[in-house]
Amino acid sequence: MKTITKKQELAAEVASLKAQGKTIGFVPTMGALHDGHMALVGRAVQENRCCVMSVFDNPTQFNNATDLEKYPRNLQRDEEKLRAAGVAILFAPTPEEMYEPEEMAHPFAFDFGGLDQVMEGKYRPGHFNGVVQVVSKLFTLVQPRKAYFGEKDFQQLAIIHRMVRLMHFPVEIVDCPIVREASGLALSSRNERLSDEQRKKAVRISEVLRESRNFAPAKPVKEVAQWVVDAINAVDGLQVEYYEIVDAATLQAVDQWEGHCVGCVTVYCGDVRLIDNIRYC
Ligand code: PAJ
Repeated sequence: MKTITKKQELAAEVASLKAQGKTIGFVPTMGALHDGHMALVGRAVQENRCCVMSVFDNPTQFNNATDLEKYPRNLQRDEEKLRAAGVAILFAPTPEEMYEPEEMAHPFAFDFGGLDQVMEGKYRPGHFNGVVQVVSKLFTLVQPRKAYFGEKDFQQLAIIHRMVRLMHFPVEIVDCPIVREASGLALSSRNERLSDEQRKKAVRISEVLRESRNFAPAKPVKEVAQWVVDAINAVDGLQVEYYEIVDAATLQAVDQWEGHCVGCVTVYCGDVRLIDNIRYC
């Protein structure tokens, strides 16, 4: 595996792979890799002639400087995992390599037709603009045939699909299911910041989501949503930021069980912000 930090070097590698007729599968990440990331990597390695990964803590998608500062990092351990998984190229640039100085302060503003205004977008203004800013740059550099994203970040996935449609990227987006611990807790780089006690409490998030599915179609949407919020908040140390049951395609809140409905939750466990979601129908 080659680790590359410069975009020109990456461009030369990509050109050489293309000249050899090798198609690229791409997995963008922010590092601190866990088995959720590695499931995406496994598929990308299996389904493509060549797998390119990126590890980049994108500063433009963090609207909170402390969150960026506290984000876990371990490039050496990430490199070992990726080498063992059969990744060909790891791209790990600096922010200066990815952005012109003025782009950091005044990013190009993308329009997502409302997808970015709800849920995460409401609580983390500018977050998805930063995500699309970096993913569009990475797609241009890496030129993948397929790119792999996790359903754990359900809203991000919907926005990436829209970005690809609007910007005509010749990339197939592959949706990958949420990878969970045996306890049900969704794997996340942020879990590293939970104490043992907090980790036990956080298990309740996925439990409550699963339990709510048992009576979802029989009860009104509003009632189920309120039950989820109350059941999670009942655990000392957990605080729901939002729970919304939305249409999977438009991400707009629904009031009937119609079409594909997904419940998306964000919970603070101490100062660690955790997200999860569940498909109802
Ligand atoms: P990051 O949080 O590192 O996640 C990288 C990819 O791994 C995303 O597609 C995410 O949905 C997926 N992922 C994370 N945890 C997962 C789990 N438990 N199961 C399945 N997939 C999981 O998402 C980002 O980085 C960034 O926003 C990025 C797209 C790289 C742009 O900076």
